[in-house]
Amino acid sequence: ATQQHQQPAQQPHLPTSVSTPSLGGSDSLLLLSEGFVAPVRLKNGGEYRLAEILSRREIPVSPSSGGGNADSSLVMYYVHFEDFNKRLDEWVSADRIDFTGIQPPRVRPPGSGGSVSGGGGIAGGNGMANPVPGERRSVLGAAETGPPRPPLSALRQPMAVRLCRRPTGSMAHNHDDNKVMRMKNIEWIELGRYRIKPWYFSPYPVELTKVACVYLCEFCLKYLKSVTCLRRHLTKCQLRHPPGNEIYRRQNLSFFEIDGRKNKATKLFLDHKTLYYDTDPFLFYVLCETDSVGCHIVGYFSKEKESAEDFNVACILVLPPFQRKGYGKLLIEFSYELSKLEGKTGSPEKPLSDLGLISYRAYWSQTLIDALLEIKRSAPNENDPPSVTINDLSERTAIKREDVISTLQHLNLVHYYKGVYVIVLTKEALDAHSRTQGKRRIRIDPKCLQWQGKDWSKRGRW
Ligand code: ACO
Ligand code: ZN
Repeated sequence: ATQQHQQPAQQPHLPTSVSTPSLGGSDSLLLLSEGFVAPVRLKNGGEYRLAEILSRREIPVSPSSGGGNADSSLVMYYVHFEDFNKRLDEWVSADRIDFTGIQPPRVRPPGSGGSVSGGGGIAGGNGMANPVPGERRSVLGAAETGPPRPPLSALRQPMAVRLCRRPTGSMAHNHDDNKVMRMKNIEWIELGRYRIKPWYFSPYPVELTKVACVYLCEFCLKYLKSVTCLRRHLTKCQLRHPPGNEIYRRQNLSFFEIDGRKNKATKLFLDHKTLYYDTDPFLFYVLCETDSVGCHIVGYFSKEKESAEDFNVACILVLPPFQRKGYGKLLIEFSYELSKLEGKTGSPEKPLSDLGLISYRAYWSQTLIDALLEIKRSAPNENDPPSVTINDLSERTAIKREDVISTLQHLNLVHYYKGVYVIVLTKEALDAHSRTQGKRRIRIDPKCLQWQGKDWSKRGRW
């Protein structure tokens, strides 16, 4: 596999095939270029899925290692599986590629960063819909009759909140996946007691991409290229918590606020959505578990100091060892408590990842049903359903109107009945709600939050 890839003039879309004696083999003579799409075998199983070639590298194989000719090399491809989240991108050898199914590069409209995917992945099968701002969806669809209804988003007058024992339906969905062409560049990160395999691109200097593991001081977040350097650093480093101000403490959980302008170590927290690695415009909220040694990072979210679109979270992350314990929803809850103190409603920056969408959907659903139950409970007359507007719900929860609407629709709670919109709390929704609320042990206590929002627009440049 030493020949160069050329684009033949007559076939501008297909890679050069000199001869194809072993199409799928690792010694294939066919070289695929970036952008081509082909079926690639998934890691743990025989199934093939369409994947885009993001990069290619050739690893020389020495004759002593049994590779045969001195000039032979092993071709590896970095692939993105079309229906899966970026974290499943990986290097694969040519023998996992089905060269008979090669497709030319996809043509995307200029400026479109993402692709629409359905099915597959974690989000694909869960029936969740991405909240598309401004999206208007009919809940009852073709079954409805009568005069045309006003769009839900334009609704300013109250809706009745009812309890009802009726099954819900499910809705079709699409899932937008962020697809920035970046590759995972760091093999391992060691942070405190944990060794973590990064899921996405990490904005470290290129020399760090050559070491097997990057070592982080879990307190000041400085990165070091060897365990010896880390040990030396720890003898000098005085910090026992992340840099910044502790703005929340309850039992063993604390939040620290870090100003990205004052602390450049926060570059660590920037994600793949941020193409320019400038931390100045962001604040970082770091959640820690405290023990006798110090405050250990569990997760964080970043937030733009000024957001024209009312984003109250830019990027949110729970470190893999702490995931699926409720910390994601705790961070989300915290972000909305900050918005409440600012007197604003907020929304996460788009696109959401598959797990981000699952977590937000779960948080929005639970918070809105809680609010509806509270409204129902405080109604003066039990038989007379209380009224509520989208704006009431949005103000109570700090969840932006669009997300309130998409969640109510997703839960299939809104019905158009005799010319008005009615919210019907079904038995299914209430049962699911009490199940998840029962599991939700850690919550934010607003009394433990000591914070005042700043008006960054008045400060010139942050
Ligand atoms: N598969 C299925 N469901 C899951 C998974 C999973 N792997 N992980 C979490 N969930 C569900 C939980 O069951 C829970 O739902 P429930 O309340 O109905 O039971 C809900 O998601 C939230 O679970 P938490 O335990 O609170 O979330 P977690 O601590 O795992 O954090 C997070 C979620 C932050 C998205 C985490 O998965 C993560 O860091 N992912 C990588 C980075 C990422 O994708 N961030 C979001 C990008 S979008 C943005 O930044 C705005
Ligand atoms: Zn340190």
